[in-house]
Amino acid sequence: MESLQDNISELIAHGLDTIQYPTTAPALYVPIAYTLESGGKRLRPRLLLSAFAAFAGDRPLKEALPQALGLEIFHNFTLLHDDVMDNADIRRGRPTVHKRWNENAAILSGDAMLTLATEYIADCKVELLPEVLKLFNTTAMEIYQGQQLDVDFEERNDVSVEEYIEMIRLKTSVLLGCACRMGAMLAGASEEACRAMYEYGTDLGLAFQLRDDWLDTFGDPLEFGKEIGGDIINAKKTWLLITALQESDGEVEAILKEDLEPEERVRQIVRTYRSLDIDKRCNALVKEYSEKACGALKGVAMDGKLYDYFVELARKCADRTH
Ligand code: IPE
Ligand code: IPE
Ligand code: MG
Ligand code: MG
Ligand code: MG
Repeated sequence: MESLQDNISELIAHGLDTIQYPTTAPALYVPIAYTLESGGKRLRPRLLLSAFAAFAGDRPLKEALPQALGLEIFHNFTLLHDDVMDNADIRRGRPTVHKRWNENAAILSGDAMLTLATEYIADCKVELLPEVLKLFNTTAMEIYQGQQLDVDFEERNDVSVEEYIEMIRLKTSVLLGCACRMGAMLAGASEEACRAMYEYGTDLGLAFQLRDDWLDTFGDPLEFGKEIGGDIINAKKTWLLITALQESDGEVEAILKEDLEPEERVRQIVRTYRSLDIDKRCNALVKEYSEKACGALKGVAMDGKLYDYFVELARKCADRTH
């Protein structure tokens, strides 16, 4: 299994390193290369290629590589725009594109990444093309919907946990579900298996985003590679803040209304989180979703080693630090 995952890492790294960019208007492509070389966990292409391997027998991973690279490029495109929307200065330990260059670069290089991603995704067997593109386009539209809800919720203090879960399902989970499903689909897995893989990916995605929100407040900035406290400063309606709003008897609402320096606002909100045990309860919920993800795979006929890999990945994701 180590060697399969090593092989997957190498294919992804090599594929991203050797993208051929057009030569016209090179300034369009510099931020793209900057972003794609900055690393990241490569979770989506890993999921796609692992799902392919789970159902493809001896067929080569290369068959699903364009789609794996396409999803990673697409993910990175969403990050360029997300960092503008969230006014985030640091990602993967480096200045974000809109800080390193400007917002125009983040918008336009992001647009080019979306097109590049689509080109890679569409590079598949013609008989699979309609369903591959349909899955990708549906997923992309859901992500934009989720991102819109995320921004809308900044202005509201009455967001429910159900609304939050639906928002993170859209902005984050569906892409992990899409990666799992697309890998299985390309391998020719049954509809039942494809559906189970999608469910695994989306539950994993809920755990993943809940943990991301936890890390945004309680993580180590050096390990996490992003600034800490941004969600609180932007009044993002994370599970943490929603629960604190519901349980703190008006205290959190008052802190949000007060004219405070950003650091002081973060300090006061974190104090409330700790007093309500919200940090620990959030992680318990992360574990619930990661176990739920594992449950989705039960009874699915797939390669046993990859089944173990998916289970371990979900469990590791529950206490990830970056
Ligand atoms: C960041 O995704 C955006 C979220 C959905 C939380 P990742 O945490 O997968 O980012 P990278 O690609 O590893 O940097
Ligand atoms: C990002 O959510 C989801 C998408 C990019 C679609 P976040 O805004 O929490 O992601 P980070 O923390 O900036 O990576
Ligand atoms: Mg963000
Ligand atoms: Mg965001
Ligand atoms: Mg975040």
